[in-house]
Amino acid sequence: MNEETKQERADGGVATAQDSLSVTDNRTGESYEVEITEGTAKAMDFRGIKVSEDDFGLMTYDPAFTNTAHCRSSVCFVDGEAGILEYRGYPIEQLCEQSTYLEVAYLLVKGELPNAVQLSDWTHDITHHTYVHENIKKFVEGFRYDAHPMGMLLATVGAMSTFYPEAKDIEDANERYWAAVRMIAKVPTLAAFAFRHNLGLPYIYPDNDLSYPGNFLSMMFKMTEVSYEPDPRIERALDVLWILHADHEQNCSTNAVRGVGSSQVDPYSAVAAGVAALYGPLHGGANEAVLRMLDRIETVENIPGFLDGVKNGDERLMGFGHRVYKNYDPRARVIKKNVDEVFEVTGKNPKLDIATELEKRALDDDYFTERKLYPNVDFYSGLIYEALNLPTDMFTVMFAIPRTSGWVAQWLEMVQDEETKIARPRQIYTGERERDYVAIEER
Ligand code: CMC
Repeated sequence: MNEETKQERADGGVATAQDSLSVTDNRTGESYEVEITEGTAKAMDFRGIKVSEDDFGLMTYDPAFTNTAHCRSSVCFVDGEAGILEYRGYPIEQLCEQSTYLEVAYLLVKGELPNAVQLSDWTHDITHHTYVHENIKKFVEGFRYDAHPMGMLLATVGAMSTFYPEAKDIEDANERYWAAVRMIAKVPTLAAFAFRHNLGLPYIYPDNDLSYPGNFLSMMFKMTEVSYEPDPRIERALDVLWILHADHEQNCSTNAVRGVGSSQVDPYSAVAAGVAALYGPLHGGANEAVLRMLDRIETVENIPGFLDGVKNGDERLMGFGHRVYKNYDPRARVIKKNVDEVFEVTGKNPKLDIATELEKRALDDDYFTERKLYPNVDFYSGLIYEALNLPTDMFTVMFAIPRTSGWVAQWLEMVQDEETKIARPRQIYTGERERDYVAIEER
């Protein structure tokens, strides 16, 4: 580093000209050097920019964190421009082709693909923790018959913290491991109980002889048969869908898990916050909206009229567009392949023809290509869930099951990161100041 290029930094340190930002505060005429590392300037470095000694210092304003990195993470990489999604460096396409959801969950949680022994131990640990305490079953029974399954999932995940109070010891690596295992193992059970509760059907206990997705299908659909035999094609399709949904870096629900977890609360409570965030229609609920849209379009003949409505701003083409992906969403490409395999078993969902034609026409239309609007993960996933006879209320739950491993991996990373502090953003205060209290009779 060249001594001559070093300058006083806004935070009082020293930066070099090559890796810094020169900022002139036109209020004072003062110039500052702000260090750039990994393409990022630290917001706290701006605090040293002041108009007077007693000034609080410059803040950055970023509602929705659209340009703010709030952590360093090695779990998931997304390049929206190039349409790339990787878990721990492995491309999503390869994982979907060659891996299983449980192996991917291990990869996310532990950081590396397991060897055969590690995978066998992990599978054993998950499989042997799928049962939930009987009192949780009673707790689910207490919900109204038509309670939304996401509301039930949110409550039961939160309630798990009362069954495993030892998870509060987040400094203990062993406790962290078992909390991770318990959550990945039990969320499908809680999800299936919620589904059966809505139908008024008895809850089905986990079957340890089945695979992770196979056991879920059994807990959902088993009736009078002695043992449920899932169709291997459906089992695999579900596994692939779950790999695709396992993580997506700092999305709304992951941010909720990290934000709540930064208070050092137990991981069940932190993950319950993630479930709550996912419940919202702007996050986990878009797949449901796609189906409602396809229902409204009704026939292939109505597509041009519908697209005109979208272009006039009267409608939104649900399942198209993404905040990050400005190229094809790589998850949509994989799902599309999956659709055919599922329909081979279930029979074709008649809405598929409308969806395929809609996609084709939109991709041929300048309105969508100019705005870089391509199908996202939700465009086809709802069609698959519907073909599996799932009610729309269950669609977001189907997203929450695999996202649990991502939430857990991000939580583990957060609690072990020395830079983690309690998440506590600043605000620009816009309200009144220094008012004297007025007695009620004088207002
Ligand atoms: N249909 C029609 N026009 C659209 C759409 C759409 N689905 N999405 C964006 N646009 C237009 C938008 O009107 C704007 O046009 P103009 O420049 O003329 O004003 C332009 O494209 C840019 O859109 P934007 O609203 O600035 O984009 P955004 O990044 O804020 O929004 C989005 C991203 C996902 C919220 C949006 O594309 C959308 O609402 N899509 C439909 C809902 C959907 O499918 N959501 C699932 C997202 S994937 C699940 C997940 O990962 O959580």
